[in-house]
Amino acid sequence: MAAASVKGTILVTGANGALGSAIAERIAEQPELAAYHGLYVVRDAAHAPALASALVRGGGAHAHDVVALDLTRPDDVRRVAKGINVRVAAGEIPPLRALVLNAGFQDFGRQSWTADGFDTTFAANYLGHWLLTLLLLQSLDREVGRIVVIGSQGHDPNDPRNARGKAFENPKYKTFISDAVSFEAIAKGEWSPATEDASFRGGFRRYGAAKLFLVMMQHELQARLDADTALHRICVLGVDPGTMISGLQRLASWVIRVLIFKIIYPILLYLNPHNGPVRPPSRSASDVLEAAFGVGEGGELPKDRYFDGRAPLQTSEESRDLAKRKLVWEETVKLAGLKEGETVLENWQ
Ligand SMILES: NC(=O)c1ccc[n+]([C@@H]2O[C@H](COP(=O)([O-])OP(=O)(O)OC[C@H]3O[C@@H](n4cnc5c(N)ncnc54)[C@H](OP(=O)(O)O)[C@@H]3O)[C@@H](O)[C@H]2O)c1
Repeated sequence: MAAASVKGTILVTGANGALGSAIAERIAEQPELAAYHGLYVVRDAAHAPALASALVRGGGAHAHDVVALDLTRPDDVRRVAKGINVRVAAGEIPPLRALVLNAGFQDFGRQSWTADGFDTTFAANYLGHWLLTLLLLQSLDREVGRIVVIGSQGHDPNDPRNARGKAFENPKYKTFISDAVSFEAIAKGEWSPATEDASFRGGFRRYGAAKLFLVMMQHELQARLDADTALHRICVLGVDPGTMISGLQRLASWVIRVLIFKIIYPILLYLNPHNGPVRPPSRSASDVLEAAFGVGEGGELPKDRYFDGRAPLQTSEESRDLAKRKLVWEETVKLAGLKEGETVLENWQ
């Protein structure tokens, strides 16, 4: 479809997952959203059954492409970003109105590493998304573009919802990083490794660290965009979608994967579908789309805001530490190997 006939492009990572496919379904079923071009990013474009069914359920005419990307492979991220940038520059698809960083991965103690030696949890949740975002900034709509980070309670050790899991009970886990060395330890999977704690708690802490870096990226990127001559109207927001029954639990033990997520949580969801501890992905999908398209009170730009569903939530103390934020950004530039000319952000280093 030609760029002139559609309103803009919406890119969603992890589009074959529970939340990602629910977002695609919501887009396809609402004519005002279906008028955007969808870029649905999945790991295997030849096998994305949840996305395919969601688009059928959504119905309606909705121009879209299914794009294959493994976020743990920087060369793949660069290839995909380049392809999208070329298509936007050529007017084949319109600029990105919304970039939804939804893909997520939790190892539940079955720790693994990428070919580059990064902890998979760190690379899939954070590093790949950071690089993709920086590379795609040139294709963001400069007037109304929004980036939505999908956060988690795991980013904040002091979030009361983490008390029952006890992953952050030990005081040494109340903060994630203190300097570049501790950041690198997380990146390489040497912090809270499975060899020290093979339970889901070790993996949840590494997942929490990756989500913290995403939330830090929300704050830091917004500050850098605000100071940018061309990109200062772009908004970065975060949404915690809450606990959902999804593919995220696929590597969990039987007790968590089957007993809790397939028996107990569906009952809780059935008994309290609207305000219980478990949320249907369809509801969280609406919350994410509200962040991506909603207008703030008084029409001001909704910059650097983070929501639990739709309720504003203050992000963790550590995520708001300016010095740590800067450190994480600068170290990420090195880990991602970002070079001059790869991003249009003026202050990228
Ligand atoms: N479920 C919860 O309770 C919960 C709570 C708070 C936050 N969240 C967040 O919500 C978001 C959506 O998760 P979900 O619950 O819908 O889980 P999900 O069903 O597992 O969906 C996550 C998607 O991310 C994709 N993904 C994982 N690793 C990837 C990689 N290396 N490259 C590209 N894509 C990758 C997966 O692709 P494949 O299908 O190919 O594996 C999957 O489709 C995540 O950011 C998650 O952290 C979830």
